[in-house]
Amino acid sequence: MIASQDFQPKRILTGIKPTARPHIGNFLGMMQHAVALQEEYECYFMIADLHALTIPIAPDTLRKNIEELALDLLAVGFDPKKATLFIQSHVPEHSELAWIFNCVISVGELERMIEYKEMRERFPENANAGLLDYPVLQASDILLYRPYGVPVGKDQQQHLELTNTIVRRFNRRFEVEYFTEPKAMIYKGTEKVMSLRHPDKKMSKSLGEGSYIGLTDSPDLIRKKVAKAVTDSGPAEQGSGMSSGVKNLFSLLRAAGEPEACRQLEENYREGSLSYARLKDSVAEAISEFLRPIRDRRAAWEKDRAGAMAIFAEGSEKARACASATMKDVHSIIGIR
Ligand code: TRP
Repeated sequence: MIASQDFQPKRILTGIKPTARPHIGNFLGMMQHAVALQEEYECYFMIADLHALTIPIAPDTLRKNIEELALDLLAVGFDPKKATLFIQSHVPEHSELAWIFNCVISVGELERMIEYKEMRERFPENANAGLLDYPVLQASDILLYRPYGVPVGKDQQQHLELTNTIVRRFNRRFEVEYFTEPKAMIYKGTEKVMSLRHPDKKMSKSLGEGSYIGLTDSPDLIRKKVAKAVTDSGPAEQGSGMSSGVKNLFSLLRAAGEPEACRQLEENYREGSLSYARLKDSVAEAISEFLRPIRDRRAAWEKDRAGAMAIFAEGSEKARACASATMKDVHSIIGIR
């Protein structure tokens, strides 16, 4: 049977939407994990600009976000020498394969997606068809490259299950063993980073400026944001164990700081001799140092925006070569060539 684009046992792929600048929570989750995987896997990392269109976004904002995300990805350590860095819309095969997948998956299955239901509820005035179709485009992003796995956060698990459903449906309908179900590589190493101001909610830009630490926030800004972080939400909470705010500060410290210093502070906390002011100073200091190399690399790339975009243009060409080989197989499998 046709299999010019074979399944690749060492290949992985993931995508990031250019909707908002990444913050430390995004970095400690999927990004840091994906950067490490570059050493071991053949990586495809993609800016998912077509996915960003499912929310209302002005053209100038989108254009700017794509460029800013390209700089951010280079700054956090995605390395064009080790990985193919590319932009989804520069590889038109993504939309083409999505159309074909649309014809093997049912509307009911898409309507069951949690993210779709949440988006519809939160933004009823924006219930565009792209939101419903979002996971089909994502399946196409993935399967064009026939990868072994997809590093993602836990929130993407259902989308990956849908990708696997599409694999089975496609293979069954066309009586082939062409696509292979990719593995969800869900990173379990880091605790979820919570908002500094609302520590019961996941860190997110939508919760306001003081809620998150941006990847390129200055040490001064980091200190100010951490100083205002919620610790105990009131006397009622004290004495009933560690509050969610304090827990979040400790988990940031564990992720960003030196293990020994961290252990020491945890011990002081247990003894009751740790002031929150000292904890916050230590957290701010640890985060500042942790983000320093990212800040420095980002500043360097800011002076060479054209160079950064050229990396993504070159990566997109390479990605396209792979995607179009898969598409060629698909054309033949489904009977349009
Ligand atoms: N939906 C993903 C997210 O919001 C982004 C994404 C788009 C993606 N295409 C992908 C992730 C392909 C993995 C593989 O995080």
